[in-house]
Amino acid sequence: MRILGIETSCDETAAAVVENGAKILSDVVASSVELHKKTGGIIPEVAAREQIKYIIPVIESSLKKGYGQPFSHLTPNIDAIAITVGPGLIGSLLVGVETAKTLSYIWKKPVVPINHLQAHLYANWLAPNNKVPKFPAIGLVVSGGHTDLVLIKGHGKIKRLGGTRDDAAGECFDKTARALGLPYPGGPEIAKLAEKGLPAPSRRAEADGKAGNSQAYDLPRPMMKQKNLGFSFSGLKTAVINLEKKEKKIKKADMAASIQQAIIDVLVEKTIRAAKKYRVKSVLLAGGVAANKELREQMQLESRNSKPKINLHVPPPKLCTDNATYIASCAYFNFQPIPPPSVKPSARRSWQKIQADPSLSIEEMIK
Ligand code: KG4
Ligand code: ZN
Repeated sequence: MRILGIETSCDETAAAVVENGAKILSDVVASSVELHKKTGGIIPEVAAREQIKYIIPVIESSLKKGYGQPFSHLTPNIDAIAITVGPGLIGSLLVGVETAKTLSYIWKKPVVPINHLQAHLYANWLAPNNKVPKFPAIGLVVSGGHTDLVLIKGHGKIKRLGGTRDDAAGECFDKTARALGLPYPGGPEIAKLAEKGLPAPSRRAEADGKAGNSQAYDLPRPMMKQKNLGFSFSGLKTAVINLEKKEKKIKKADMAASIQQAIIDVLVEKTIRAAKKYRVKSVLLAGGVAANKELREQMQLESRNSKPKINLHVPPPKLCTDNATYIASCAYFNFQPIPPPSVKPSARRSWQKIQADPSLSIEEMIK
């Protein structure tokens, strides 16, 4: 089965064709991030306008260049269209949802509405050399707007165990980076600065004094020792902002390394704790922050050292940040197609119900 995935929840416009939920036939992403760098963060109105500009060229390219199919009123060789309906920015989501519905109408193909947060986890089914994750699994979804720890008993069986009470992990990277005068998005910038003076692995560089010292600033690890599986990152953000104001000369590489380590410590501690508590067969990392090299390495190290050993799945960095491959993959494994409106009146009603939902939670299944 071949599914065209479309993703427009934030500032990336993406389309991809994926076969049987695992084989990427095309993967196209356009981003308006350069515009958002100028303002130090995303302005929803600007993101939505850019989505409108990119949506057709991106879908066209995913079909034509990647997949050798014409983009016209003629139906391409696909079985369904998967579309992110939430959560995300309402203006951005609407562009994707309405485009997907229009194409479904013209091509007479079913639509599969997708929850963006659940979909992030499916990047783990797309990694070419990775083993297929086994259930039950713990999933950690760490992105710019969300930090969720979930128990996955099977496809479509997701229970939220905990999440952030305030800022998301990615948001903490972005906001502390801003306090240090680094551009948006802050996560990759903090990681780069912390690693300054590579060579990899970065911890070796740190020992050589070539990278930022992650112990240099004593930053809080909110809620880390609490037994629950919740997170909180706003206190860490405030601590960094206060230090930045108080100290005359902040060593930026040291501060970047300290921020990164504080976030990693909490994420690793709670994820491993959840894996042990629920005795799962795998742990899945997902979301933009999972592209962080230190997080990947340290989570891997702790998983190997854990008794019993934990099977950690981490997608390639390119599949962690927003794209449409995992939207298509999620649709394949949770296939609930809504037929195009031309079939019968009852079908028309469910098709009309496909709507953008900016505040969808990770547990919500879409019918
Ligand atoms: O999943 P994503 O691409 O978009 C959302 O759904 O939010 O995640 C974006 C977030 C941003 O906060 C960005 O700073 C963070 O992921 N991020 C990283 C790295 N790459 C992206 N954070 C830490 N280290 C990275 N290498
Ligand atoms: Zn995302």
